[in-house]
Amino acid sequence: MNFETIDTTVKTLWRYDYDTNIKPLRDLYEVAKREQWNAATDIPWELETDPSQVGDMNATFSEPYDFVKALSTEKQIELARRRSAHLLSTFLHGEQGAMMICGQLVEVVPDMDAKLYASTQVIDEARHVEVFHRYIQRLDKVYPIMPGLKALLNAVLTADLWQMKCVGMQIIAESLAMGSFKTMLKITNDEVFRKVLELTSQDEARHVSYGLIYMKDAIPKMNERDRDRLEDFAWTAMTLLASTPQMEKGKEYVDPMEEIYTDVGIDPKKAASEIISRMSDPEAAKAQPNPFREYAFPQLNRVGLITDRTIEKYREVGLTD
Ligand SMILES: [Fe+2]
Ligand SMILES: [Fe+2]
Repeated sequence: MNFETIDTTVKTLWRYDYDTNIKPLRDLYEVAKREQWNAATDIPWELETDPSQVGDMNATFSEPYDFVKALSTEKQIELARRRSAHLLSTFLHGEQGAMMICGQLVEVVPDMDAKLYASTQVIDEARHVEVFHRYIQRLDKVYPIMPGLKALLNAVLTADLWQMKCVGMQIIAESLAMGSFKTMLKITNDEVFRKVLELTSQDEARHVSYGLIYMKDAIPKMNERDRDRLEDFAWTAMTLLASTPQMEKGKEYVDPMEEIYTDVGIDPKKAASEIISRMSDPEAAKAQPNPFREYAFPQLNRVGLITDRTIEKYREVGLTD
């Protein structure tokens, strides 16, 4: 058995009037019911996966690393396959976190339309857990959760304001997932994986919409003290996971994929020094997709959580210009 427990905070709210009060959320609930799919039957699982077509989900720099180029083609494919399983494990754990957080949202959100919608997202996330788990088995094995992701999900699970749970999950985590799935779709030629990503990102787009619609409605209604706390929570949540050259400066670089490197015959120290030198070049880093800059920050801005009080902090670490 492999599990751990944490104590969470939920303030469950019963709602006794059932009429629609946020029409766009009720409409989204209707869309969600219509667009349900079945992870067991709507993915062409009967097709085999050719490892050379999966693509290296980590190879987001346009120019491949020297330590990768030095490997034989066969080893490069093995590296890509296993590194992809490593990255997808992160998504798999993230999907479980999303499923549990949405379960909380059903309880804590104060509006009936928002409760109904959140209930559909629980089954969406269950489907995502199912497909990612199943697909990872084709590549390698499930790797442990990354500490930064666990910290973010636990911060959301234990947050005391329902708006924090909604912003942490629906605005930050969901837009990161959307951005990453889009990038992965550009990289892979595996038909099974393409279908997984297409169907999953269709759901995630709806999840992001929920966050935007609901938070645009809810944030202006908050008192100043809670709104400030929410802004600070968003900043903390972003820094638990985001990475930019400015944020990495002075930190010791530990590659979570050391085990994989060693197995395929790469010296992890050599790999680390090449990765660090690339990462510390702000120009090269800008050429690499960064879902925090491109997706999460703009969404926070859209719902009014980037203010004169907080914008400087985001600038300093390179999450906005
Ligand atoms: Fe998901
Ligand atoms: Fe989602």
